[in-house]
Amino acid sequence: MSMDEIICYCKQVTKREIEKAISEGAKTLKDIQEMTGACTGNQCKELNPSGKCCSSDINAMLPKPKFKMASTCGCGHC
Ligand code: FES
Repeated sequence: MSMDEIICYCKQVTKREIEKAISEGAKTLKDIQEMTGACTGNQCKELNPSGKCCSSDINAMLPKPKFKMASTCGCGHC
């Protein structure tokens, strides 16, 4: 996947722009929408070759929430 690949076809937002927003602190789809304008179009079916909105592609790029701390101490007995 090239960094210049378009992720949001409605707004012509590239993977690079979304990565940049994430590196600047975007954590949710809403952050990405506000920072890049991606995922704010309404012609996804016509413009996106996948025929769907870019939201799932953007969600896949967002940092995953950290795993909860284990409820055991890790000793192997508790
Ligand atoms: S492809 Fe992103 S809003 Fe349509």
